[in-house]
Amino acid sequence: PQTRKYTLKLSQTQWAPDGFTRSTYLVNNQYPGPILQANKGDWFSITVENDLPVETSMHWHGMFQRGTSWFDGVPSVSQCSITPGSSLTYEFSTNEQTGTYWWHSHYNAQYMDGILGALIIHDPEDPNLKDYDYEYVVTLTDWYHQTTADLLALFLAPGYTGGNPVPDAGLISGKGQFNCDAKPGYPCKKDSDVAVYKVQKGKKYRFRIINTSGEAFYMFSIDGHKMKVIEVEGTYVQPFEVTQLPLHIAQRYSVIVEANQDAKDYWIRATMSKECIFNNGNTTINHDSAINYNVTGILSYEGSSNKSPDSTPFTDDLTPCRNLDSKLIKPLTASPPKEPTQTISYNVTFGTNAMGVAEALLNNSSYVPDKIPTTLRIINDHVDVKTMPTSQNIEAFNDDKGVAEITVYNNNSANHPFHLHGHIFWLIGDGVGTEIDKSVYNTVDPPVRDTTIVPAKGWTTIRFIIDNPGVWAFHCHIEWHLQIGMFAQIAELTDQLKLQKIPDSIQGFCANKAY
Ligand code: C2O
Ligand code: CU
Repeated sequence: PQTRKYTLKLSQTQWAPDGFTRSTYLVNNQYPGPILQANKGDWFSITVENDLPVETSMHWHGMFQRGTSWFDGVPSVSQCSITPGSSLTYEFSTNEQTGTYWWHSHYNAQYMDGILGALIIHDPEDPNLKDYDYEYVVTLTDWYHQTTADLLALFLAPGYTGGNPVPDAGLISGKGQFNCDAKPGYPCKKDSDVAVYKVQKGKKYRFRIINTSGEAFYMFSIDGHKMKVIEVEGTYVQPFEVTQLPLHIAQRYSVIVEANQDAKDYWIRATMSKECIFNNGNTTINHDSAINYNVTGILSYEGSSNKSPDSTPFTDDLTPCRNLDSKLIKPLTASPPKEPTQTISYNVTFGTNAMGVAEALLNNSSYVPDKIPTTLRIINDHVDVKTMPTSQNIEAFNDDKGVAEITVYNNNSANHPFHLHGHIFWLIGDGVGTEIDKSVYNTVDPPVRDTTIVPAKGWTTIRFIIDNPGVWAFHCHIEWHLQIGMFAQIAELTDQLKLQKIPDSIQGFCANKAY
């Protein structure tokens, strides 16, 4: 094992990934940021240098952070944020995990301004190694022409009722095309770059596909090529073929694509679902007819002579806003979940607070971040989480090696991609309706993942093993929902957490702050 050292230098610049120039945050002068890679068992040592005019905090989406929960990167939960001009080194192990992850700022909605990238843990014992020759990372992102600071100012204004801001364009690996023709006089250029993936006929490619959006659900496909799914969010699965891949925010899949067609160019299609964007009353802040929902890239065979693809899409009609069918996903090594020893549920609703500002609530409580991170309160001050204010949305799980079961009930018409930090979970079941239908529970070989969709007017049940001391976020990954409080804290095995020693770097961060 080695220590994989990286520096992520955050800066602000003007950037035009879809032909429209806006203030963007870059990491190491690129967008998306660098792909962080390690082999299973390595440590990461990642220094985040904040040259932005605002604070930041970095999260490693999907990493367990066992024994290093303070490096999970959530302000108010794991650490104080990184002030402009300062830096913080995150150090964590990869020894339990392999596969496809990502990293992103967890400060406000900041990752949507550009602070994100892929995180890959290679596995020398990957059972699929012989089944592909090369690999690519594909990030799918929605893109706005205003900064999130500007959008949040509108979205959080008292009396605003327009729903989530709607993206202007979508990007494949940071490249997209705004529909300039549909908006005469708008300051955009038509010839922005297209994402091109080169292949050689006869070779096989592993594509690691990550939805890094803030609002959009994506349907992904490559004309003329089937995709063999081999990994779901870090868990190997029994391979199965699909022609279209649905991904809500923060979901990831590895697929193998065989370059076995005529040696020409084919469209790669990433379509943002309008249904998912508009089904919850999202209307205006910036919605206009020029939005390009159909983002394209190119799969280009070596020696191809057709410079623009004439390929046709697959026509399956998959339900938008829903997970890839759980019945297809069978972990390669099934570990059947045990019966829960602690069960809780969250009820998702929307409302407005006393000032008329939109809020999202879990069990009638909208999360309000505190100045002091919960992790520090527990380790430094031995605070009992039961005494914390309701607005902390905190729940204790103290049954060592027990099984937690969480059901999320959602009575509104949006679909919420919920993510649990610090864990993978069994997706026991989900469905539409106000009551759980236990007949659809899979307690034999359910999918294992870290992000799953709670369907509109429906419910989702997950289970996980209580074995990772820390305070873990559990939240909707639609950034607008998270910003208005659709967020809970899981305080896990706090008696063990209290005994852990926080690195001076993390302590020092808060010491600098007035609270
Ligand atoms: Cu992708 Cu709370 O994280
Ligand atoms: Cu949501």
